[in-house]
Amino acid sequence: MLSSAAMKRSAQFAALRRGVSSWAHVEMGPPDAILGITEAFKRDADPRKMNLGAGAYRTDAGKPYVLSAVRRAEAALLAQGLDKEYQAITGVGAFTRAAAELAYAGAAGDLGRVAVTQTISGTGALRVGGEFLRRFHGGGERTVYVPAPTWGNHAAVFRDCGLKVGQYRYFDAQTNGLALGAMLEDLRALPRGSIVLLHACAHNPTGVDPTAAQWAEIQQAVEAGEHVAFFDMAYQGFASGDADRDAGALRAFVAAGRAPVVLAQSFAKNMGLYGERVGTFSVVGADAQERARIESQLKIIVRPMYSNPPVHGARLAAEVLTNPELRAEWLGEVKGMADRIIAMRAALRARLEDAGSARPWQHITDQIGMFCYTGLTPEQVDRLARDFHVYLTRDGRVSIAGITSGNVQYLAESIHSVTKA
Ligand SMILES: Cc1ncc(COP(=O)(O)O)c(C=O)c1O
Repeated sequence: MLSSAAMKRSAQFAALRRGVSSWAHVEMGPPDAILGITEAFKRDADPRKMNLGAGAYRTDAGKPYVLSAVRRAEAALLAQGLDKEYQAITGVGAFTRAAAELAYAGAAGDLGRVAVTQTISGTGALRVGGEFLRRFHGGGERTVYVPAPTWGNHAAVFRDCGLKVGQYRYFDAQTNGLALGAMLEDLRALPRGSIVLLHACAHNPTGVDPTAAQWAEIQQAVEAGEHVAFFDMAYQGFASGDADRDAGALRAFVAAGRAPVVLAQSFAKNMGLYGERVGTFSVVGADAQERARIESQLKIIVRPMYSNPPVHGARLAAEVLTNPELRAEWLGEVKGMADRIIAMRAALRARLEDAGSARPWQHITDQIGMFCYTGLTPEQVDRLARDFHVYLTRDGRVSIAGITSGNVQYLAESIHSVTKA
């Protein structure tokens, strides 16, 4: 009997012989949730429309923002007239060194034991990391446990690496805060030696981050289970405005040295390099020999995937990170972005309360980073789009970056309208 794949194949060749398309069996896939929102937003002609779906920073005038430090770094690079030769498989060395230093600071010693490769931003880092863990994680079951909920792409990335994906509880819908007890219970119940994905800061989509004391308990649970800590750090500096503080949990795990730590790092948000696709994947090894062996395997993973990474964005990030003047300017700009987000949270909450909303909105200001998990239901989200031209994902996640001092009042009134009994 023919397998279903073989039947499809023979139908495909029969179709070709009849002069019909060989790809007629390819079904239409569902649209990406976020891109679907952007499409609906673009079609809406109302001048009050707001796009709160996309996770990209906007200025208070609602415009994309190219950081001044990045513009100056770009001018300096252009003046150097650099060539466009291939870099190493692991990318631009000055960039990977500076990126690892930014992430780990002194927590991993002099970084001689940290294997790093440049990646296609944070998504590519997760993909390379997933491949590395599928090949080399010593634990029996290759399952990555992600928080519930998590960034919409995590499960797809890890499944495409051939890993299984499980969940641990994270968000408490009653309090719109961290479900610490449930999270610890789940982490303690995982099979020994699992892979645990942790958002280093500015958890997406909930905006709920553990406090330092809660992180200490989480760390203990991960270490006790001999789990691998897979940090996803897509927002360093963007959460609190302080890049060191935002890397605190990652550094505490590394400094303790009781759990294997790997890291996916992105410069999309904190340097505004979204489309340049700048990131790293790194593994903290035991010593320089181990680092060299791990790096050799990272090269073997990357080479057949995309051979070697693009150079321009990595050179930009390296220039910003290593030129003291640009670095200081950049850290100021990151803080400026974080502060605007924090101010918009406060404004939205205040306007909702002023509008007479009887619901508690404290979680808007308790949460941190680009996203707020509002607690709106899918039906309320649908009404916001239909009646008020306000677009967000159906899980009630608002990208605070899309709020400005010019539209926050309208947003608060709209949310109040759909949430009052
Ligand atoms: C938690 C998280 N991880 C990773 C990414 C990857 O982003 P990028 O591939 O643009 O660096 C994002 C982007 O939204 C994110 O929120």
